[in-house]
Amino acid sequence: MRTEHVITAKGFCRADIETVLDRAAALEAAETSAIDRHPDAVLALLFFEPSTRTRMSFDTAIKRLGGTSIEMGSVEGSSIAKGESLADTVRVVAGYADAIVLRHPSQGAAKMASEFVDVPVINAGDGAGHHPTQTLLDLYTIRKHVGLDDLTIGIMGDLKYGRTVHSLAIALTQFEATQHFISPESLAIPAGVRYDLEEAGASITDHRTLLDILPELDLLYVTRIQRERFPDESEYRAVAGEYGIDLDTLASAADHLRIMHPLPRVDEIDPAVDETDHAIYFEQAHNGIPVRMALLDQVL
Ligand code: NCD
Repeated sequence: MRTEHVITAKGFCRADIETVLDRAAALEAAETSAIDRHPDAVLALLFFEPSTRTRMSFDTAIKRLGGTSIEMGSVEGSSIAKGESLADTVRVVAGYADAIVLRHPSQGAAKMASEFVDVPVINAGDGAGHHPTQTLLDLYTIRKHVGLDDLTIGIMGDLKYGRTVHSLAIALTQFEATQHFISPESLAIPAGVRYDLEEAGASITDHRTLLDILPELDLLYVTRIQRERFPDESEYRAVAGEYGIDLDTLASAADHLRIMHPLPRVDEIDPAVDETDHAIYFEQAHNGIPVRMALLDQVL
């Protein structure tokens, strides 16, 4: 049987997405917190970059399915520090676990790792590439609050390095969403992603300011400027602090506008916005549990 890797959102079709989201909804509605469907499963968590939500929600998800997780721990505390290659690390770990969740700073790392192992590799973020499981929980949250049909979405911030954006924008083509990209020119969506979007028939428009388009939006997806990916700190400083929102910014927004953010936020959303009905980003993060349970249940 072919091993089911989860590497980018490009392979997601509407029916597959809906299957995972429906399963997540059923898991969320279940009374019990521990649904022991996979009592012998071992999930390896290999994180070569910082993570709070993704790592902890995968860990919680596998435990709620009755399985266990094993962690590589910090890069400094592992054999990576001795010079071991990613290919060797994943080949070894594949012998300990039934699936591998991998986050790595290099774009393409998860794809490369998947070529060396015969257990499923789940991409938990590969540099400025993709973050497909974040997209599944984003879609779950969107479906719950505003619906995936006839969606008009604004995606704002670091569209160049933001991997959550790349995966989400591609997946939204399955639902024919109208997408507005709001960023400084230097952080616009990369040519490769734009090409994939155009191939998929996406409806996309670029904007330099949010206020042009804000009143038309059902959903605003705000992202952090990905400081760690800038080759030069001065380039980061030139754009840091732009594209934030506060209560004043939202004066022209529709009442039904919902605001999402993959988190962590730095200063993109003023905390005063948290108290409004627009803010759904903390619930979005919590949705990582049922969605990752559903995905693991399928992959395992
Ligand atoms: C995102 C990531 O790692 O790409 N975080 C997450 O997984 N929720 C977003 C970010 O770091 O800005």
